[in-house]
Parts: sequence; structure tokens; C-alpha cells
Amino acid sequence: MKTQVAIIGGGPSGLLLSQLLYTRGIDSVVLERKTKDYVLSRIRAGVLERGLVDLLREAGVADRMEREGFIHDGTLISYGDQMFRVDFAEHTGHSVMVYGQTEVTRDLYEAREAAGGKIDFNVEDVEIHGAESGAPYVTYRVDGQARRLNCDFIAGCDGFHGVSRQAIPLDVRCEYEKLYPFGWLGVLSRTSPVNPELIYANSPRGFALCSMRNDNLSRYYIQCSLSDKPEDWTDEAFWQELKRRIPADQAAKLVTGPSIEKSIAPLRSFVTEPMRWGRLFLCGDAAHIVPPTGAKGLNTAASDVHYLFNGLRQFYEKGDAAGIDSYSEKALARVWKAERFSWWFSSLMHRYPDQSEFDLRIQVAELEYLRSSSAAQKAMAENYVGLPY
Ligand code: APR
Ligand code: PHB
Repeated sequence: MKTQVAIIGGGPSGLLLSQLLYTRGIDSVVLERKTKDYVLSRIRAGVLERGLVDLLREAGVADRMEREGFIHDGTLISYGDQMFRVDFAEHTGHSVMVYGQTEVTRDLYEAREAAGGKIDFNVEDVEIHGAESGAPYVTYRVDGQARRLNCDFIAGCDGFHGVSRQAIPLDVRCEYEKLYPFGWLGVLSRTSPVNPELIYANSPRGFALCSMRNDNLSRYYIQCSLSDKPEDWTDEAFWQELKRRIPADQAAKLVTGPSIEKSIAPLRSFVTEPMRWGRLFLCGDAAHIVPPTGAKGLNTAASDVHYLFNGLRQFYEKGDAAGIDSYSEKALARVWKAERFSWWFSSLMHRYPDQSEFDLRIQVAELEYLRSSSAAQKAMAENYVGLPY
């Protein structure tokens, strides 16, 4: 089999790239290790920056998001008995779209299927060959049968645990990582959201976040210990703990109900450099991970896809390789800024096991500065709505 762009990974990065290439008549094949149902069962964040919203429009997959998504002009931040709002619209002229990543992925699958896009599921033993040559190819197995896909380029969109990053030799690849000494316990419940806007809470008992998917679907998180297991937390214990971490007036109106999903995620910052090796390009979680505070995971994946898509377009439409040659540099410049923001916002909002009294007072000073300074709020808002591509 032959295609122009072989895409490893059928998560949001791979599907969005495939769909954007399709709009320009560039052929691709997506290779996904799992099934579609499995991919769509993963619950991820749900805040889309304007850059991603525009990309989804460009890809022709924005209709349901425009109908069902919520536009948020600001967010609430609480600490101690203080709560304040950062107004994105006032400070940046922009807002964010609250629409679940799972729904974005579902819309992308529908669009790829409607267009007759080629996606192979349940692929095994994916291997990248000749990335440094002019004729790269990918081998893999489906239903025990060996396959070979010849291509011009390979997009490694296979997430943090994929094979693409590992294909880059160790003497070329540099990895930067920071682990955080806590996790997030997340609960999805069919209840109305406690507040129309998100609430990020720094409490002496640890961080909490009140988010949502729609009018009758709420998403809540609390900071937990890395040794906790989801089954250690009954629904009742989760709701009690959440109520103790958010402002009393919010806790009083919190509607609780049975959890329909409960999971624990560790927090990690990770970047690999470079994001290109010959004809292999890494996109999204394959190249970088952010802690979830600020919801930059999908959004950084989207900016990678934007740079790669435009580089490939320039190559196929004009025979000009400048865009693909500058891909790694451009993508990384933006990724590191999102890494900085996610690290900063995580540091501001969580309790750390080894935090000294000095560290705590610095954290409060930083929160007070953010509450009282229009300049600080503007800096936060411009990062939250997303830096320009
Ligand atoms: N071969 C084929 N597919 C693979 C392989 C492999 N060897 N390894 C992993 N995959 C698939 C996974 O099953 C997954 O569906 O690649 C896909 C990668 O998807 P994500 O992990 O969702 O990564 P990405 O598409 O870059 O999306 C980034 O989604 O994962 C969240 O937090 C992340 O919000 C961020 C965004
Ligand atoms: C979510 O809705 O899951 C969510 C929202 C904002 C974040 C992280 C997660 O910062």
C-alpha cells in the first residue's frame, strides 16, 4: 500500500492532521493500535483554545461544537476564603470553548468515515523504516497479517507510549521531564455543573477543579496522593472532599450524584527535542506532556498539527520544504511556552508534600498578586485562551 502521509495513532492529533490534509487533497492512512470504541472511551480535558476552534472549522468538523459547546469568557480562582475572576474577554478580546476532547475525537472519526478516509484499527508491531531516507515506510500487522505502507512522510501521533518517539536515535533525541508528587482524581457525573464557569481552587487540603461537559454532565477533580487508587474513593468520600476544598457558597449548591467515570492521572511535564527526524514528524503527546492544570494537552497537540499541516501543504502545493524544515523549531517554541504556563499554574494551585512555610507564603503572595493586578491577570488570560500560532 502507498500513501503520501502515514499517520501513526488515531487519537485527536492523528485524526485532525488526516482530516486537514484531506481538505487539501493530500492522501493519508491512519494506523491505530486500539479500536475506535476504546479511543472514544478515554475521558480527557475539555477546554479548547481559539486556535484549535479555528482549526476544527478549517477541517470542516466544527458544526456540533458550535451548537453544543459553551463559550467561556472567564474563570474563577479561589484560595482561602477569597475568590476572584479572570476575565479572558476583557484582557485578551478572546474566549475559550468548553467542549469535551472525546467529542472532538468523535466528530473527527465521523468526518474521516464520511470522507472514506483510511483508518486501520487493531494494528500491532508498528515499525518505522527509512525515516532518514527519501523513501520511508511503515510495517505493521493486522489480524496476524504483515503489511507495508510506503509513504513520503510519517507523522508520529501515537501518544506518550507510542513507538514513533523511540524510533529517533538516542544520540539525536533529548528528553526533559518533571514529575509532580501528586495526582488528580477525576469524576464524571450526570449532574448540572455547580457554576457556569470553571472554578480552580487552592485549598489547604489540596487543589480542586469544577469543570463541565454540558448542562447535565459535570467533571470534577481533586488533588490526591499518587498511591491512591480510584476504588479507595467512594463517591460519597469524593463529594465530601470536593466540598471541603471549594468556597462554602459553591459547596452549598453542589449537586452530587453517582459517578459514571472515576480515574486517577499522575501529573507530568515532558518535552522531547527535536520533533523531526528526517521524514518523521512527532505531534502531540508523542512529543510532549503537560500537567492538566490549564488544559493545554489537546491544545499543544493542535498547534503541532497546524504547523505540520501547513508545512506539508507548502511542500505538496508549492514544492517548498521551508515549512517542514522549520516544523520542529516552530512547534517547540510554542510547546515550551505552554509547558511554562502549565507548570506555573500547577505550582500556583497545588499543595506540595515538601512545601515549607516560606513556599506557602510565596504561593499566597502570587495568588494575591494575580487577584489584584490587571497585568498579572492579562498574562494569565493570554496564556489560558492560547498564545497565537
Ligand atoms: N501504533 C499505533 N497506534 C498507537 C501506538 C502504536 N504503536 N501507540 C499508541 N497508539 C495510539 C493510541 O492508542 C492512541 O489512540 O495513538 C493514539 C494517541 O492518542 P493520544 O494519546 O490521545 O495522543 P494525541 O492524539 O497526541 O492527543 C493529544 O490527547 O491524549 C490526550 O492528553 C492528551 O490532550 C492530549 C491529546
Ligand atoms: C476538564 O474539563 O476536564 C478540565 C478543564 C480544565 C482543566 C483541566 C481539565 O484545566
